[in-house]
Amino acid sequence: MLKGKIFSIFTLCVILLLSFSSDSFAQKAHEFVGVKTCGMCHKKAEDGEQLKIWEKSAHANAYKTLTTAKAEEVAKKAGIKGKASEAKECLMCHATAYDVDKKLIGKKFKLEEGIQCESCHGAGSDYKKKKVMQDHAKAVATGMTEYKDDAAIEKQCITCHNEKSPTFKKFDFAKRWAEIKHPTPKK
Ligand code: HEC
Ligand code: HEC
Ligand code: HEC
Ligand code: HEC
Repeated sequence: MLKGKIFSIFTLCVILLLSFSSDSFAQKAHEFVGVKTCGMCHKKAEDGEQLKIWEKSAHANAYKTLTTAKAEEVAKKAGIKGKASEAKECLMCHATAYDVDKKLIGKKFKLEEGIQCESCHGAGSDYKKKKVMQDHAKAVATGMTEYKDDAAIEKQCITCHNEKSPTFKKFDFAKRWAEIKHPTPKK
């Protein structure tokens, strides 16, 4: 009896361990391709012009903001030595993939492009193919982040829109999401 139980607990642990390690392995394999790559297929008005909506949003300029005099002031107050645009305390919310292994950064990716598509949708090297993109399950399996409902979306937003931001303004999700959402039109 007891032996059987210990054995099944052991088996469970092995299964858990295996699934965790293969998970993190799969995640590591995806590279960041940058907004230009996503934008190639997501710019037409009839498809929802996601690129244009993003370009007009503050997210596109989030890194550039760190190079302003205002940012230097904010950084100084926060006790940062050196440039705001090089401090991880600022980049963590003002840029995409600033701290990942260089091997996972594609040729077209530019840090200067701020909060890019992949900040919210996941590193895209393996889901960006048209055939994969058209199949939701396949896209998710190859690294695309899935949002089941608005609560899940809000959770993503407040990883940055929170009190750790030195200039934090209260975040009204419904209002802010309406300003930047970029749905594919129903055909
Ligand atoms: C080769 C063209 C192509 C590229 C490159 C591409 N996409 Fe797509 N994407 C598509 C197509 C086609 C669809 C399906 C559109 C539809 O359902 O009308 C799609 C769908 C999507 C969806 C909705 C998927 C779903 O199942 O909910 C998201 C999100 C998305 N793309 C984000 C991205 C991001 C982020 C990038 C860059 C990492 C990217 N795409 C690169 C063509 C592309
Ligand atoms: C936790 C995430 C987060 C961190 C960390 C963060 N920011 Fe921000 N920052 C934001 C968000 C979100 C906004 C947009 C509105 C707001 O302040 O809530 C913003 C806006 C700004 C603005 C524009 C403010 C305005 O009113 O025009 C500046 C400048 C800025 N940040 C500088 C910095 C600097 C410098 C650092 C590092 C010391 C930093 N931020 C760290 C999230 C963050
Ligand atoms: C601040 C986060 C954020 C950024 C930046 C962002 N998206 Fe999204 N996007 C979302 C969320 C959340 C959704 C809704 C949930 C979903 O469909 O996955 C979405 C939906 C989409 C959809 C599917 C729309 C539909 O109706 O099925 C496409 C396509 C898309 N985004 C492409 C892009 C592209 C391309 C970029 C960059 C140019 C981009 N997104 C930037 C968060 C973001
Ligand atoms: C990776 C961090 C990050 C995430 C995730 C993120 N944001 Fe932001 N967002 C920022 C930063 C940083 C700014 C300020 C950029 C600037 O002014 O340079 C900003 C600015 C904005 C602005 C302009 C606000 C203003 O006061 O000018 C809106 C609207 C916005 N975000 C909506 C959203 C929504 C909705 C989501 C979730 C779908 C989201 N953001 C997710 C970092 C983020």
